[in-house]
Amino acid sequence: MTPTDTQAPAQVNPVAGRTLRDVCGLFVTGVTVITSGTEEAAAGTTVNSFTSVSLDPPLVLFCLHNDSRLRAVVESTGAYAVNFLSGRQEKLARAFAGKSTAAITDVAHHASVTGVPVLSEALAFLSCRLVNAFDGGDHTIFVGEVVELGVPRQSQEPLIFFRGFLGSLEEEPHGVDPVFDG
Ligand SMILES: Cc1cc2nc3c(=O)[nH]c(=O)nc-3n(C[C@H](O)[C@H](O)[C@H](O)COP(=O)(O)O)c2cc1C
Repeated sequence: MTPTDTQAPAQVNPVAGRTLRDVCGLFVTGVTVITSGTEEAAAGTTVNSFTSVSLDPPLVLFCLHNDSRLRAVVESTGAYAVNFLSGRQEKLARAFAGKSTAAITDVAHHASVTGVPVLSEALAFLSCRLVNAFDGGDHTIFVGEVVELGVPRQSQEPLIFFRGFLGSLEEEPHGVDPVFDG
């Protein structure tokens, strides 16, 4: 395909943050809540930047904004859990995506082997020991080694994120305003 065949002109430098977000929003993802800390000082944040990295050793990563309150909690705890949300957990995703984020104590949870809380109603979870943190611009890339995993709800559908909207696989992601605009 030549450049003249493309329907929209390709954008060259400098790439605007808004445009980057809109284009990356066309890459459909699942939705997780990353939890960390101990029972008394546990915290959680909604994150879609999760990816698996390596099978041997078993490594995964997620990217966290440097201003996130979860950052210091992950660094001081040295462990985190990735909770994959189900299609029924849209409210939970929103609750952990605000600046006045939800409290872990308000959500059904239990301790993983590392001591960090795991959300008991999640589709699946990975409990990780923090092995590396890399500078990623305005985000930090946290790499963890998976030390425990589970699928508490075998037959659930995932929550998905597409074009800034949350939804389940049965329904088109919808909404009036994008849920995540930053
Ligand atoms: C679907 C979705 C995905 C998100 N993914 C990320 C992410 O990958 N990294 C991140 O830092 N923030 C992400 N956010 C934004 C955070 O959830 C939000 O900024 C955070 O909850 C703010 O509170 P905090 O300071 O406790 O982190 C996402 C939000 C939504 C709704």
